Amino acid sequence: MVPRSSLVQSSTLFSEPVARPKDAERSNTNTVTPHLGQKLLYLSQTDVAACGPNMPEIVAALESMFREKGEGRVEMPPKIGVHTMPDAFIHAMPASIPAQKAVGVKWVGGYPANSQRGLPYITGLLILNDPETGVPIALMDCTWITAQRTGAATAVAAKYLARPDSSTVGILGCGVQGRSNLEGLKTVFPVKKVFAYDTHPDRATRYAQEMSKQLALEAVAVSDPKQAVVQSDIVVTAGPILRKPHATIQPGWLAQGAFASLVDFDSYWHAAALHEADKFTTDDVPQLHHYRDIGYFQNIPPIHADLGELVTGRKPGRQFPSERTIACNLGLALDDIAVAPLIYGRALEMRVGTWLPL
Ligand SMILES: NC(=O)c1ccc[n+]([C@@H]2O[C@H](COP(=O)([O-])OP(=O)(O)OC[C@H]3O[C@@H](n4cnc5c(N)ncnc54)[C@H](O)[C@@H]3O)[C@@H](O)[C@H]2O)c1
Repeated sequence: MVPRSSLVQSSTLFSEPVARPKDAERSNTNTVTPHLGQKLLYLSQTDVAACGPNMPEIVAALESMFREKGEGRVEMPPKIGVHTMPDAFIHAMPASIPAQKAVGVKWVGGYPANSQRGLPYITGLLILNDPETGVPIALMDCTWITAQRTGAATAVAAKYLARPDSSTVGILGCGVQGRSNLEGLKTVFPVKKVFAYDTHPDRATRYAQEMSKQLALEAVAVSDPKQAVVQSDIVVTAGPILRKPHATIQPGWLAQGAFASLVDFDSYWHAAALHEADKFTTDDVPQLHHYRDIGYFQNIPPIHADLGELVTGRKPGRQFPSERTIACNLGLALDDIAVAPLIYGRALEMRVGTWLPL
């Protein structure tokens, strides 16, 4: 992820003047859609990061989207995808959020072995469409958006499921998600101390140094995964997603009153540890069932609620300080499509990106 503060100038150009409002069509974002039906705006990874909303804005966008989802006013078919290698995927993720006038599709790959080639685990593209005509209006890199919206989804879940006074966080997997999830949590909770664990100790050390500085908290690297779990009010597991869990986290590790966000599904958790949860939630139940049908989530607790139900109050979030709560957000197309129009709107304002003919 490219931190916004470190960005200088976009690498790409607004190669032509933007159409003036009187010449242009109204867009899905209540901004102006120049060149509708003639050109689309291409936004590289650097462009996206330059125009990206900040984390509190992303958390707010996702919370409103989950309210719409809870009210049944969105459309999102279950993820479909292809699997070219064991534990790798490329997913097609379409969604429509009428209230946010947002519609589009993300085409995203996740390859656990990519880091050995110096490539990101997650790569892909997102197409944003005009909801009134279906015309593609933007094509953007989805690496930044995937990182940020996943961190924000953890923050939304934690808002309903974690103790409001949560101040210690354990991060297992100190990569892109380890960073954005902590950033998301810091927008909602008074986080003071972070225990960072990674199977590559140098990554945990670098993470602790960077996050301490970036988020003004005390992050320390730990050498044993248990140290990152037992002392934490909030635990985030963000290692590789595996059909067969490595099940490192044992029963009794997650403290009473703690909340855990399973960014890497159930991969990190012994089934008996998961079954200690008083409430186990997800972001979309049909999607979780789909994953279960193809071999993931073979032994998880009953699902208490989805995130839309928590946000709309249809189901209760945390009710007692001593509850153990767990959210397993699978990552929804709705997350991406809630954020992409904010990036597009700001790119138009900032005149960032490259116009490509349709
Ligand atoms: N649920 C969602 O919405 C969602 C969205 C995006 C990514 N993901 C998943 O999040 C995970 C992390 O993605 P990323 O982009 O941060 O990858 P990344 O490669 O940037 O970071 C992963 C980190 O985990 C470390 N690691 C590997 N095995 C570990 C283990 N057993 N314990 C601790 N650390 C370990 C690696 O050394 C690396 O530092 C992936 O599994 C990815 O598929 C989930």
